[in-house]
This record gives sequence, structure tokens and C-alpha cells, in this order.
Amino acid sequence: MKKKYLIANWKLNHTKEKVIEYFEYLSHHYSPERNKEMVICPAFPFLSLLLEKYPSMVLGSQDVSSYHQGAYTGEVSAEMLSSLGVKYTLVGHSERRIYFHEKDEILKLKIGQCLKYGIQPVFCVGEGLKERKEGRHCTVVQQQLANVLDKDTCHRVMIAYEPVWAIGTGESATPEQIEEMHAMIRQYLFKQYSAREVAILYGGSVSRKNAEQIFSLSQVDGALVGSASLIARDFLALYQVL
Ligand code: PGA
Repeated sequence: MKKKYLIANWKLNHTKEKVIEYFEYLSHHYSPERNKEMVICPAFPFLSLLLEKYPSMVLGSQDVSSYHQGAYTGEVSAEMLSSLGVKYTLVGHSERRIYFHEKDEILKLKIGQCLKYGIQPVFCVGEGLKERKEGRHCTVVQQQLANVLDKDTCHRVMIAYEPVWAIGTGESATPEQIEEMHAMIRQYLFKQYSAREVAILYGGSVSRKNAEQIFSLSQVDGALVGSASLIARDFLALYQVL
């Protein structure tokens, strides 16, 4: 059976008390199932605390430096994350691309750093509303893949397809749109690099209302979840229908 993934992207949310409360809830109610990986990506300050207190939980970071080490104030390296036991990293989330102007060349370096230090990069791609309206969604996403991946890295990343217009809006892509894009991404990776086994997650307003339908789509290997991951009980409910 193919493995499925449910990744929580907490973004800039929660303080220490909330974080502990959340993990306490999970430690009483969550039992990991084979072939279903739950990953939580809190803000950087909580990673080390959580990994020490809840060593069986799988954690990811929301970003990583494109540099290895040196005079880069404020950065957190893949090697540091790896030394804590962090297993996953989001790379190229649209909020990083839009608000922090992260360009494809930087994302390529970040993926390189993750792979070098044994962290699983989850590479986020997705078109904006204007691009979707103009019918350019496939071209845009293919370009994002082409600019960042290569024959060595494409087999080792996971992809999160997140249409920008669906993130945080309460309006997820339709099942048809999701299937179309996931199939296109899969075909592209196979045609360009003979990569067959890449997990492709969907992200963008996944909630208890639509999760079952989205997870049942044949092209979908799981989800990257923002808002609906902020309350432990809600996120666990998503895991149960994954
Ligand atoms: P959302 O966020 O679930 O709140 O739409 C998803 C994401 O940004 O990864």
C-alpha cells in the first residue's frame, strides 16, 4: 500500500503553552498507523522542545536556509535541523515566495541542503488566481518544477501542489482541478526524469468538510494543511480519514 502523508503547517501561530497543550492532546489520542505519516511543522523555536518531550512525533520545519553555515544572521541550517531530529522541511511555500521574495535558484539550494543532511524536502508549487484564470496553471507549475528540480533531486523530493488562490481562502480546488494538476505533475516528472514514486500532496483549504473527498482521489498522496491543523482535535480528525 502506498504511504499517505498529512502535514500540518502552523505558519506564524501558537505560543509555547498552546504548543504543549496540542501535543499533550495528541499524546493521549493519537496512535500512528502504518502507511499514514503525520508531520507537524511548528515555528522554529518549538522544534527542539517538542522533539525532546515527544520523541516519537515526526516534525518538520516551515523553511530552511539555503546556506550551510557562516555569517548569515537569522538563518537556520539543514544540518542544525537534522541534528535535532527534524525529518521534513517545507521548501518554497507560496507565502515565502510572495512575502519573502524567495526565487527558484534559492529553492534549489535549499532542496540541496535538505538532501545533503537527510531531511525530506516538501517542495511547494502552485499557480496564482490570475494564472489560473488565464489558463496558464499547467505551464506555471511545470516551470516551477523545471527551474528547481533536476535529475538527482526529482526522485527525492515530495511535492505539495498548492494553488495560491486556495490557500487560507476556504475555497479549495475542485476534485477535477486537483486530479488534473497532480496527473500533470506526475507525468512531467516521469517524462523528464523517469521519476515514478514521487508523493504528491494537495494543499489549500483542506478541512473536515472536504478532506474525505480529496483523500479519495487516486492522484492524491495526502495533504498539507494550514488553518485546519491549528486545533489538535480537528487535525487528528483529518488523520483519521486519510
Ligand atoms: P490552508 O493553508 O490549509 O489554511 O489553506 C495551506 C498551506 O498554506 O499550506
